[in-house]
Amino acid sequence: SISVVSSSGSRDIVHVLKENNKNYLVLYGSQTGTAEDYAKKFAKELTAKFSLNVMCADVENYEFDHLNELPSDVIVSFFVSTYGEGDFPDGAVPFEDYLNTLEDGDLSNVKYTLFGLGNSTYEFFNGAAKKAHKKLSNAGANLVGIYGEADDGAGTTDEDYLSWKDALLEELKTVLSLDEHEQRFEPSFTYKVLDSGVTDTVSLGEPTAQYMPTAKLSYNNEGKQLGPFDGTNPYVAPIVKSHELFTSKDRNCIHAEFDLSGSNMKYSTGDHLAVWPSNSDEKVKQFLSCFNLDPETVFDLKPLDSTVKCPFPLPTTIGAAVRHYLEITGPVSRQIFSSLVQFAPNDDIKESLAKIAQDKDLFAKDITSRYFNLADALLYLSNGSKWDSVPWNFIVESVPHLQPRYYSISSSSLSEKQTVHITAIVENNANPSSEKAEPVTGVTTNLLRNIQLAQNKKAVAASNLPVHYDLDGPRGLFKNYKLPVHVRRSAFRLPSNPATPVIMVGPGTGVAPFRGFVRDRVKFVEQQPNVTLGKHLLFYGSRNQDDFLYASEWPDYSKKLGGAFEMIVAHSRLPDQPKVYVQDRLIEREKEVYELIAEKGAFIYVCGDAKGMAQGVHAALVKILSNGKGITTDEAAEIIKMFKANGKYQEDVW
Ligand code: 2AM
Repeated sequence: SISVVSSSGSRDIVHVLKENNKNYLVLYGSQTGTAEDYAKKFAKELTAKFSLNVMCADVENYEFDHLNELPSDVIVSFFVSTYGEGDFPDGAVPFEDYLNTLEDGDLSNVKYTLFGLGNSTYEFFNGAAKKAHKKLSNAGANLVGIYGEADDGAGTTDEDYLSWKDALLEELKTVLSLDEHEQRFEPSFTYKVLDSGVTDTVSLGEPTAQYMPTAKLSYNNEGKQLGPFDGTNPYVAPIVKSHELFTSKDRNCIHAEFDLSGSNMKYSTGDHLAVWPSNSDEKVKQFLSCFNLDPETVFDLKPLDSTVKCPFPLPTTIGAAVRHYLEITGPVSRQIFSSLVQFAPNDDIKESLAKIAQDKDLFAKDITSRYFNLADALLYLSNGSKWDSVPWNFIVESVPHLQPRYYSISSSSLSEKQTVHITAIVENNANPSSEKAEPVTGVTTNLLRNIQLAQNKKAVAASNLPVHYDLDGPRGLFKNYKLPVHVRRSAFRLPSNPATPVIMVGPGTGVAPFRGFVRDRVKFVEQQPNVTLGKHLLFYGSRNQDDFLYASEWPDYSKKLGGAFEMIVAHSRLPDQPKVYVQDRLIEREKEVYELIAEKGAFIYVCGDAKGMAQGVHAALVKILSNGKGITTDEAAEIIKMFKANGKYQEDVW
């Protein structure tokens, strides 16, 4: 983790706040950057509208023992996301430990607000935020406004936040006697343009030390990048092999193999690989052109006080920052429109921008439903006029930063020790709003497809790819098809006793970790031929034969595992056939599935789509248990809840 220390070297949150003359505190615990993003937006708005001196910080970096000594006119706003089974984000676990030590009255001087970021398709919806809320209020802290929750499962995170925030700001105006003025951007950094002419000290987006601006890519004398490698220092790994898995032309799914030898990074079967993307040529160009930015401009940022840190290695160029650090293709948040009003190219545009920023329905209709990114949206509103009065440092501070994308690893650490496989479906869909609008494309999966085509000497230009990437990368760093990656541990693990039966359910790319599981068992049996394996059932689903993933591999696994492995396939789009899903196949096998679970202690694994599929499979298993045991479905659901709690029912869903 990054250590942020104040000028006096303190990690005490109250000390640092006072030392920097701040009069409002925003704290976040974030796993993939969403809570961080909203916390920063909130902090920026308080500064822009009320000229508050806001400190915005990751709970990971501070200690809270003296939180009750916050000045009485300072309110603390928490943004907490929930991860896994109602868990706090990894970095916020020490903060959770602190909350657990609190006793009644410990925080009686503290006034707080709390907003949770979660997803209702998961069982422990906003579990971390709910827990924080309970612990804080039990300790006597006073909630200002209402406790807020966002639901990404309903796709309403942004609007949930905005309606909570609008009400809260009204409340804060009263509680803190604030005067609201027109939004004025108050930078957190001094921004300086340097003489151009790229020198060695200018970062071109080298994918290391992402959050350590003073660090440089470092190599040992054999030319190997120096670790340890993790979420703050990804390893630039060669893609040693990649190929297309689908046989139809209309959709693509990429199998890619990353070589981790030399990185000292270890993984276990069932873990995730984080891949650090960069933006495509086309989208970078569009973004630069929208704001009339020169990609060659070399610049530096210096934090204005010790509570902020530089967002990427500096000095760098505007082009490198846009390509490697800014999330320029994601959906637009309505809030950024309000903060852009001050920079509108002319009064007419200013008016229409202010109007759409206030009107949730209009925004949904004109912007969200068209899948516009920020540049699309702004150019649409300005009818093509450039937004050249938006300051570059406003963009750096207001546009979310690129985050790594996580993929379930489809190899086995037992059979592929140094190589990690991933299985990624390429997002490149017609824009649902209109065939004429830009297609909706995924940053990382299209990058993987570009690499696959280039590597296999198929001209990228001759493909139907909508976007192209800088495959050589900064100073040739990505040459020979390298991408920055790190491993994220997961709890998705085979039972340690090989005799325990296993039921795996993974349609589509949900089969990825199960390919890893099965390869693991194949290797295990090779090493210990006398072992007795429990029954391993894999329920797999695809549309038809064209998107049947790894179709040629499964018969070989069956041969090697004998009767211990069986794959049961459901096809949903065969001509003149009814749609069949994995959950239908589970029901067809009701008796066997019931016996494996209820009598033989089988472990159940579900991977893939969180919404429809995981819920459909859950419902099928509830039905099977309730029929088998002659109990109600509520009682059966309770049993499954227990299975989940003790690791016998594991999900890796998204
Ligand atoms: P589809 O033809 O309806 O899209 C992999 O994507 C497979 O999962 C496809 O066969 C797809 O079927 C199927 N699928 C889609 N929704 C599902 C759901 N709710 N439950 C189970 N499988 C589903």
